[in-house]
Amino acid sequence: MLQDKKIALFMTGGIASYKAAELSRQLIKKGAHVRVAMTSGAQAFITPLTMQTLTKYPVLTDTFDETDPTLVQHIDLADWADVALVAPATANILSKMANGIGDEIVSTTLLAVHCPRVIAPSMNENMYYNLATQRNLRQLREDGYTLIEPAEGFLAEGYSGKGRLPDLSVIIEAVEDVVAVTKWKKILEGKNVLISAGGTLERVDPVRYISNDSSGKMGYSLAKAAKRLGANVHLVSTRPQLAVPHGVEVEYVESARDMQEAMEGSLAWSDYAVMAAAVSDYRVSHPSEQKIKSDGSDLTIHLTENPDILASLATKKTHDQTIIGFAAETEHVIKYAKGKLHKKKADWIVANDVSQEATGFNTDTNQVTLLSKEGQLIETGLLSKDDVALRIWKIIAEAEEDDSHGA
Ligand code: CTP
Repeated sequence: MLQDKKIALFMTGGIASYKAAELSRQLIKKGAHVRVAMTSGAQAFITPLTMQTLTKYPVLTDTFDETDPTLVQHIDLADWADVALVAPATANILSKMANGIGDEIVSTTLLAVHCPRVIAPSMNENMYYNLATQRNLRQLREDGYTLIEPAEGFLAEGYSGKGRLPDLSVIIEAVEDVVAVTKWKKILEGKNVLISAGGTLERVDPVRYISNDSSGKMGYSLAKAAKRLGANVHLVSTRPQLAVPHGVEVEYVESARDMQEAMEGSLAWSDYAVMAAAVSDYRVSHPSEQKIKSDGSDLTIHLTENPDILASLATKKTHDQTIIGFAAETEHVIKYAKGKLHKKKADWIVANDVSQEATGFNTDTNQVTLLSKEGQLIETGLLSKDDVALRIWKIIAEAEEDDSHGA
């Protein structure tokens, strides 16, 4: 994946700078060319000579130290790079990047960069949670940077907290993902993708409802990833509070039956239909038209089973569509997911263990196993929901490409 890729590594002044030396080595081992720019802060922790020796390229340390009259060094590096990787990224460089400041070699070069950018923040926990830092991170996310979550663990300060540079494998995977998006840019080009997201909501009366903990984030990440990979995306969502990914068309619904109508209404248009929503299995048989008053006695609510939208989509395919479902389980994850794959006649089931904190509802991370009706079983690592989404599309699109080549 990284063979012959050109990676500009930007190092800023954190104790994790020493890990960037090993990071550059591992990137080079994977076939990449790595060129480095370092702030004076980074140079306080590790020398440019170390990085030059490892990368076999001169290291940029000063914007005005122009030794080659045939080029402007920071523009040259910016133009050269296929991927810009900022690792470790301090709170200071995040602030400069979020605000378009270029006042030394790293921030100045980053202003000129026009390739995908990956940032691995690393700092003290309190600096990370500082409101300004969080604001800058939000801004950078909005501006299209790929941000890697810092890891939790023992910090250089001598106590535990969030802020450690994540494992180098996590950083390398993020770079590979970005390269994949570039490389696989067209894997969903021209495809129509229909996705449901969020927990459905069943009215008890005009002010009360039955729902579940599903945040809708995974469905939104799948929509964003599909869009990034070139698809036209229609999202059927129960979560109007979530920001709609750029370029994605959204239709809001509440109940399972509304969702079924919306999904079936767009099924013929779609090439891929994904049920990422957590559909309420039951609805209130007779919702009250007026607010129910408490009168001191127990209340019994009768529930009726909802239609199974995924199963019904699978029987209503109009052409060669791919139907993808999810299986959120708290035990026997693969066994139950296999059961759902067969029972609902889906093409793929994405199984996840919602009993774990990092992979449950309402988190920003996830780890899933994809099961296909052909019997494939493919795991993703623990990644951000956006990266898991990208991986899901890659796995499915690659499998279909293999199928068509094999056919
Ligand atoms: N699903 C659906 N319609 C339903 C229930 C579920 O389309 N009425 C879809 C979900 O969107 C998901 C898959 O079916 O893609 C599995 O959903 P899940 O809630 O994990 O399983 P259930 O079928 O509801 O089974 P159980 O609650 O017993 O685990």
